[in-house]
Amino acid sequence: MRGDEGGLMTEHLTMNTVIHAAFRRDLTRFDTALAAFPDGSRERADQLIAAWDNYAHQLHHHHQDEETIFWPAFRELGADESLTSDLGGEHARMLAALEHADEVVRRLPGDPSSARAADARAAVAQLGEVLLEHLAHEEADLEPWSATMMDTPQMKAARGAVRKAHQGESGTFVAWLLDGAAPEDVAGLKREIPAPVVTVLNTIPGRHYRKNIASVWTS
Ligand SMILES: [Fe+2]
Repeated sequence: MRGDEGGLMTEHLTMNTVIHAAFRRDLTRFDTALAAFPDGSRERADQLIAAWDNYAHQLHHHHQDEETIFWPAFRELGADESLTSDLGGEHARMLAALEHADEVVRRLPGDPSSARAADARAAVAQLGEVLLEHLAHEEADLEPWSATMMDTPQMKAARGAVRKAHQGESGTFVAWLLDGAAPEDVAGLKREIPAPVVTVLNTIPGRHYRKNIASVWTS
């Protein structure tokens, strides 16, 4: 469920909004880190690129999973075609903004200046605008209905297909979802993945994320 316009979650009904919360956290982190970028620091630029790689990867996969796995299942279950088509249009706009931000952010290591960091910050803010609006729309108009469909065979199969599509990536995924997560986000994650499995994934396969990316936000 969505709270105010800041996107505060009060309760997660599905994994979808747990993932959205991680996207929102990262937008804020990039904004803060790029605003404070130390002029001339190639080292900081490389750290931010490592975090950006993960962000772009997670964003691509999340939206691809929706378009190719979840939404077809929702349509089969009777979801409003015009809604998934509107959301699909928002994905296209989001991908264009992501491509632009990707190009601008990746200029930073070659020229790790405050000016380039400011360009990158503006491009990420543009992406943020499109993305936040899309996430809010999805949460308001699709999530309440889709949450009631989670126990259907179609949705069970869809979740299985997503797990299969991302085999070998669960550690990074879980570590990313846990990084800076609010208690309700952690609770939401553990509704979807049993708590002991979350712990194991975060501890060993999630080590790469924790060591190389979570550290970017604490340095
Ligand atoms: Fe989406």
